[in-house]
Amino acid sequence: MDITFLLNGESVELRGVPPTKSLLDWLRETRGLTGTKEGCNEGDCGACTVMLQDENGNRALNACILFLPQLNGKSIRTVEGLASPLGDLHPVQQSMITHHGSQCGFCTPGFVASMATAHLNGDTDHATALAGNLCRCTGYAPILRAAKAAEAQPAPPHLSDFTLPMPLPATDGDTVQPETADQLAAWYMDNPDATLIAGATDVGLWITKQLRSLPKAAFLNRCADLQQITETQNSVTIGAGVTIARLIALMDDLHPSLGRMLRRYGSAQVRAAATIGGNIANGSPIGDGPPALIALGATLHLRRGRERRQIPLQDFFVDYGKQDRAAGEFIEAITLPKQPDRLKCYKLSKRFDQDISAVCGCFYIDVTDGAVTGARIAFGGMAGIPKRAFHVENALIGQPWSDNTIAAAWEAWAQDFTPLSDMRASAAYRLETARNMLSRYFLEDLGADVSVHRVTAEGHP
Ligand SMILES: Cc1cc2nc3c(=O)[nH]c(=O)nc-3n(C[C@H](O)[C@H](O)[C@H](O)COP(=O)(O)OP(=O)(O)OC[C@H]3O[C@@H](n4cnc5c(N)ncnc54)[C@H](O)[C@@H]3O)c2cc1C
Ligand code: FES
Ligand code: FES
Repeated sequence: MDITFLLNGESVELRGVPPTKSLLDWLRETRGLTGTKEGCNEGDCGACTVMLQDENGNRALNACILFLPQLNGKSIRTVEGLASPLGDLHPVQQSMITHHGSQCGFCTPGFVASMATAHLNGDTDHATALAGNLCRCTGYAPILRAAKAAEAQPAPPHLSDFTLPMPLPATDGDTVQPETADQLAAWYMDNPDATLIAGATDVGLWITKQLRSLPKAAFLNRCADLQQITETQNSVTIGAGVTIARLIALMDDLHPSLGRMLRRYGSAQVRAAATIGGNIANGSPIGDGPPALIALGATLHLRRGRERRQIPLQDFFVDYGKQDRAAGEFIEAITLPKQPDRLKCYKLSKRFDQDISAVCGCFYIDVTDGAVTGARIAFGGMAGIPKRAFHVENALIGQPWSDNTIAAAWEAWAQDFTPLSDMRASAAYRLETARNMLSRYFLEDLGADVSVHRVTAEGHP
């Protein structure tokens, strides 16, 4: 595959690159740019963070699960390219020195790449921006202090003063990078055994951890029409290629509880790469997107060649590892109805940040004149698929919106779910917390403060 991109401001053209070569391996092995570190090689630690810039802005990404074709037509900055051409340190680099933000230094290049990206974007929520960077020795307080202290410094001009290269047509027969959904549809019809690669936050691990090879692949990241968000008076349609980071911005307006929950989806680096289409298509029983979208009544748009069909998202998940998707068919978009915001999403995981859900419960309950008139409740982590709680919904609908109704629905939970015990949680704990989430929804609806950041043993701070 042939690709071109800017690396620390210099043009690079590569011919015949292996499509699943990671940027991290290429930087370290081929270019000798060893500032970017390998920690986990699975997107979890942030040691390999680089800055990617394109027409959509500046993003911190994990180079260990970023394949070279994903760089075609873009600009990459590694830690070696943050200081000015004259050697002046970037403000966040200087600030890390001043505030003692580094001890052994292994994590530092990744931190600095994340901090420089947030700095360039004017993002001052440092705890969120850095939640995907792990440090084993310094402790986070000096690092957060360093990020805060650098806020007022101007961003160095060399980080925005460049022209993106025209991407090369990255196609070699078995691997393609289509520009439109039409091109993708035609190629995938003829090559249904190929792997689709969107953000590669799942597929990347097939390569780095499972050592799989992908003889045929289509990279979706240049299909501009898959990245569109279209709003009408009654609905919003979200392209399969929209990243979780962009979805947060949309949900902050429409359904803020989902926006808040998605801030705990992986890390900034993962959210900047992962797409909603990939999150649905992988069929994971513990993915965070599907339960919320099912609770919102989402419709899935599937496409095979020129044929298109629409199904309720909840029907897409047939069984563990099995989805209603034919060979050569792909997800084009999802549509959400515009409706009053009654959605609440609760993600339960062992760590607050950057952790996979043990249980993810999403509730949309309509109440009119004190009675429940409609309910869509969907869970991840409670079955082999993201699943609706139909028995619980039926136990609520038509009843007064009260403690007693919630208590009366107790038995219905076990009719809907027989969860598994695994390393994340026991079956009994899952069932109990799911029940408790409904009480939490009820209390939150009454105006009680249920945020885990604010509730204390003594009451509210
Ligand atoms: C460190 C880390 C943390 C994570 N944290 C979370 C988390 O908190 N919550 C969570 O839900 N997930 C999490 N994930 C999982 C992952 O980010 C998501 O599943 C992600 O949304 C996948 O999207 P992607 O674009 O990266 O998909 P890819 O990896 O590119 O693809 C995933 C699958 O979907 C298929 N696919 C992609 N696009 C399409 C399409 N348009 N049509 C049909 N098939 C398609 C691919 O062929 C592949 O089978 C995490 C992953 C990592 C590495
Ligand atoms: S090496 Fe850990 S995120 Fe890439
Ligand atoms: S300084 Fe040692 S891991 Fe962060």
